[in-house]
Amino acid sequence: MEKEQLFTGLENPRRGEVAAPMQVSPLHAYVLDVLPADLAAVSGERLTYRELAAKQEMVLTGLGAHGLLVDDVFAARMLQLDLLFMRGGYLPAGPGGVPSSVTDAISAQCSRFPTLDPHLSYELLIDVNSGEWNRSGNMRVFTEGETGRFERDFYLGHYLAEPTVRAAFDSLIAVIREPDTVDMAETFEGAVKNLESFRLHMAQYGKLPKEAFNSFRRYHMGHPGGPRGASGAFMPSVQLLELALLPPTKEYEVYLDQSLPYFPLWSRPIVGEWREASREGDNVVQAVIEGRLKIDRNAKAALLALIDKFADFRLVHLGVTKKSIPDAFPPGSAVTRNRISQQSGEAEILSDDNLGTSGFNVRNVLINSVYRLLAARKRIELLTINSG
Ligand code: HEM
Repeated sequence: MEKEQLFTGLENPRRGEVAAPMQVSPLHAYVLDVLPADLAAVSGERLTYRELAAKQEMVLTGLGAHGLLVDDVFAARMLQLDLLFMRGGYLPAGPGGVPSSVTDAISAQCSRFPTLDPHLSYELLIDVNSGEWNRSGNMRVFTEGETGRFERDFYLGHYLAEPTVRAAFDSLIAVIREPDTVDMAETFEGAVKNLESFRLHMAQYGKLPKEAFNSFRRYHMGHPGGPRGASGAFMPSVQLLELALLPPTKEYEVYLDQSLPYFPLWSRPIVGEWREASREGDNVVQAVIEGRLKIDRNAKAALLALIDKFADFRLVHLGVTKKSIPDAFPPGSAVTRNRISQQSGEAEILSDDNLGTSGFNVRNVLINSVYRLLAARKRIELLTINSG
């Protein structure tokens, strides 16, 4: 699916493309075909949580003693996704209420496959779910009908967007690691194009109705003291790009400390490695300011354009978030580029009001992320470049 098709209500653009794909999770039929209707019945007070639990107990019992034993990691991840979708259905009711057969099955899976996330992580919800959409044309969602299609596109849009920001990160790695072999201006310009595509993916989310977003967001929320919920905050490539661009600030270190276990498994060592390298000065902005990376006027202009494009993505994201979750932005919240750039520093992300699905203060985490880019931009802008 192309980014332009996101949130246009397309019924199932993959229908007919995949002939009767093999289903690997024993719970696929319930989670794909029944769960969204069951959750709609609970919301409409036609089914109680207790009745939902009894129904799900029967589904699991019906599979028999060995019904949930899968052999390979791929099947185990799909089954884990299904079990966590079943558990997620109870989140709007607060902690508790989940049938013990569901929680026991999740624990048993984690014992057999220790690399599985025990909670509905970004990797399972977005990457594994969208990978399965690519393979079989099936996407797990909590909601039905048109809202379900918006929800599908919400997950898919993240998955389609990430490679563009990853490509920008790869360009910066080349600048940092092999500065003599790359044309600096050209490399930054390439990254600007990637980030323009990333921004355009984000802009598609302006089409997502607020009501639809809030109907499925409640299934992603964590509970105080429980694991953090799945959130774009745990999309690794954005943070890798930031680390290759800027040194981590004190507040950003707090964000990374808290987020590391929630990033996709493959990315955790890479985020750790780049965090260390960036702290030690291996980041473009610091290397340029300290004169370790020599740039000419063209490269300076391209670097400023790159920082602007990254900030534009974050500003579009901020606008979409303010529209979708207005309560997280009390009157007077600075959400424009000018107002943010005039701030004196970052705000606390662990303050416990207006928490998002990731468990961070929504306004502060998003405004800080724009602020850091604009502060770095000012430092680059002030650099004098000697010609020749
Ligand atoms: C309706 C659409 C969206 C809404 C309402 C939304 C909301 C949020 C919220 C509330 C946060 C703060 C952390 C949290 O509470 O979870 C956040 C963080 C984040 N989101 Fe989104 N998001 C949306 C779409 C996207 C998309 C499509 C992407 C990427 C393509 C994305 C990437 C991020 C990133 C990277 C962060 C961490 C802050 C940063 O580094 O800029 N979000 N999002």
